[in-house]
This record gives sequence, structure tokens and C-alpha cells, in this order.
Amino acid sequence: MKDLSKITEIEDLRKIAERKVPRMFYDYVDSGSWTQTTYRNNETDFDRIKLRQRVLVDMDNRSLSTTMIGEDVSMPIAIAPTGFTGMMWANGEMHAAKAAKDFGIPFSLSTMSINSIEDVAEYTNHPFWFQLYVMRDKDFMANLIRRAKEANCSALILTADLQVLGQRHKDIKNGLSAPPKPTLANILNLMTKPEWCFNMLGAKRRTFGNIVGHAKGVGDLSSLSSWTAEQFDPSLSWDDVARIKDMWGGKLIIKGIMEPEDAVLAARSGADAMVISNHGGRQLDGAPSSIACLSDVVQAVQAEKSDIEIWLDSGIRSGQDVLKAVALGAKGTMIGRSFLYGLGAYGEDGVRRALEILYKECDVTMAFCGHTNINNVTDDILVKGTYEYLKTSIPQLEPIRWG
Ligand SMILES: Cc1cc2nc3c(=O)[nH]c(=O)nc-3n(C[C@H](O)[C@H](O)[C@H](O)COP(=O)(O)O)c2cc1C
Repeated sequence: MKDLSKITEIEDLRKIAERKVPRMFYDYVDSGSWTQTTYRNNETDFDRIKLRQRVLVDMDNRSLSTTMIGEDVSMPIAIAPTGFTGMMWANGEMHAAKAAKDFGIPFSLSTMSINSIEDVAEYTNHPFWFQLYVMRDKDFMANLIRRAKEANCSALILTADLQVLGQRHKDIKNGLSAPPKPTLANILNLMTKPEWCFNMLGAKRRTFGNIVGHAKGVGDLSSLSSWTAEQFDPSLSWDDVARIKDMWGGKLIIKGIMEPEDAVLAARSGADAMVISNHGGRQLDGAPSSIACLSDVVQAVQAEKSDIEIWLDSGIRSGQDVLKAVALGAKGTMIGRSFLYGLGAYGEDGVRRALEILYKECDVTMAFCGHTNINNVTDDILVKGTYEYLKTSIPQLEPIRWG
């Protein structure tokens, strides 16, 4: 195992990933839709929430252990589903799932993954969560659900905020595809990424493992891009949620809730958890940060007297962010880019390092705030006036960058 002790924060991993990963895949991860305002606010809003330092409290015997939908977790973090992950590092989904399993946290596999459901199940021999995009091809979708059951997936995540696609300018400019097309620009860029290229030679797959060979009419790459462009189902509605819940028959997580009205409907749908998420700032540009939406959703769900769990993702780059989300009522969190940077930097070791960093930051920060058990953390650790008005307040101006 690599000595990564000098890697001390997620930002270190981001910089290394930027160096090592081909431009189009790094840009795919590190961008938001259109003006990227929501993408930036996801992070800056966390910074605006202040923590209360408490002293001379016995801080021995601390624990971050808790549960997410009844599963024991070593800290309140799960790996979020992300597409193209096997392009950040060869066999990326298999490695990230293994690191998550070793750390005692859940891993979620995207419909748009490179490794297939079966690859991950075989490599980890451990239950994981499967994220479903609802597609127009209903046979394909039913087949995905069947494959997830056969692979022993312990929950289905229904992503609700991708009926239509937000635009990321860089993906269009870079001509994002898996694998990259052999254009001059791509070849020149790949020549500067020898480790990535070498590892990719031994990759199990270089395109979407859940789709190619499984969806009707998609046998090769040329048919794949037109198929995916047409497949996301814009007619998806709450009736479909009930239908999918029945088809799946197990734990269901609805991802992409931002507003109290939708949170109430999610609670009534009988789902086990909802994720307050703006898809990491990749869909509705101009939406508030996820953390700004959390308190209103928690209040609305409490008024419903529902026991659905509320989780949060989007913008988590530190253990302090996790603690702030928990303080504002999230039972758990999910991380996207924080693990992807680790994966792009050092593969499985890098994901492990990202998790260690988040764990330590959350643990020590919790102690500074006078708590020893994550399950007892409430908004009493937050400075009043620094979080209540995030949703309605004017975002801070971006700092001026000289030069
Ligand atoms: C590169 C990338 C790909 C993503 N792909 C998916 C996906 O396939 N399915 C999905 O439900 N969410 C997807 N998401 C959203 C994540 O699940 C999660 O909501 C988001 O990454 C959280 O924000 P964060 O990256 O700031 O932690 C993706 C996010 C990123 C960054």
C-alpha cells in the first residue's frame, strides 16, 4: 500500500487527480452546469456555517458509528453513485466499492458506471446499493432491477432529478465519451497521462458495463451515444415511484429532493430515505445549495410524522461539512467528488485515504464541539444566525483572483 500520510486534505487529492486523469474525465468530474453558480455555492455555503467551540468536556471514547437505512456504518457517509467512474481509474467502481467495504460504509453503483453490477458484486462479495435512472426502455429497466437483486444489492436509489439533462460546457467542448475517441487532441492529452493509460490496458471494461450488451440495439459504441441521449425518461412521476418500489420490493432511496413539497411527497411514497441533493450542482444551475435547503425539509418531514431518513449530498469536501449536515438534521451524507478525486489520484488507496481524511476531520471536529457520539449531535454545535438564512440570503461575492 502506498504511503499517503502527506496527503492531508481532499484538496491534495483533487490536485493530484487533475494531473493524472485525462482532461475530459477530470473536467467531467470537476464542473457544474452552465454558470456553475450552484456548484460553487454548495461548497461556499458550508463555509458560512460556524461551529461553537466547547472546552473542558470529557472527549474520550468518541464514536462516529451510526446507521443508514438500518445498515451499520462506521461514519455517516456513503459513496454517491457517479457515472464514468471507471474512467477516473481502471476498474474504478470495483476499487471504490472495495475501499468503502473495508471502511465500513455503503457504496452506490450508478446505472452509468463503467464496471457492471456483476463486476462489483464479484470483486467485493458484499452488498452495495444500485442507483437507477428511469429509462424509456422499460424492459431494460426491469432487467436492471432484476440484475441488482441477483447481485444482492441491499437498496435501490431512484435518482429523481435527471429527467432532463443540465449542460456542462466542458463536456461538449471536450467531446466526452467512454472510451475517448482517437482525435489528435485526445491522443496528445493521453500521452501526458502514462500511468492512466498503462492501467487502462488491464481494465475489465472501457465503456458502460450495465448497458452495452444488455440494452436492445446497443451492441457497440456507435449505437450507445444515440441510445443514452434518447433514453432518460422526461415523463417520470410519483406514480412511477410506486411502481418501481413494487418491482424492487426492498429498501428504496429517493435522491434529488430539494424543496419541502417534494420532501413531503417522498415521505408519503413509502421510501426509506431521501437525499437532499442538487446533483452536485450539475443539474439546475441557480438552485440553492443543498445545505441551504436542509432545515426546511427536515421541518416539513417532521410535521408529516414520517420516519423516512433524510440524507444530504452536494459540496461535502471535509469532515466539518459532514458534521454541519448532521447538526442540521441529516442522518447521513453522500460524497461524490471527494471520493472521485481520491480515486483519480491513487485508485483504491486514494479512496481509502479520502475516507480516512473525512473520518478524522469529523471525529476531531465533533470533539472540539463538545460531543463524543455522532448520534447526539444537534444544531446546538452551530453558531446561531450563521445557518438559518442561507436559503434566502444573497450569496457572497466570489473572491477576486489576481493574475
Ligand atoms: C462525475 C459525477 C457523476 C455523477 N453521476 C451520477 C449518476 O450517474 N447518478 C446519480 O444519481 N448521480 C450522479 N452524480 C451526482 C452524485 O451522486 C452526487 O449527488 C454528487 O456528486 C454530490 O455532490 P459532490 O460531488 O459535491 O459530493 C454524479 C456526480 C458527479 C460529480
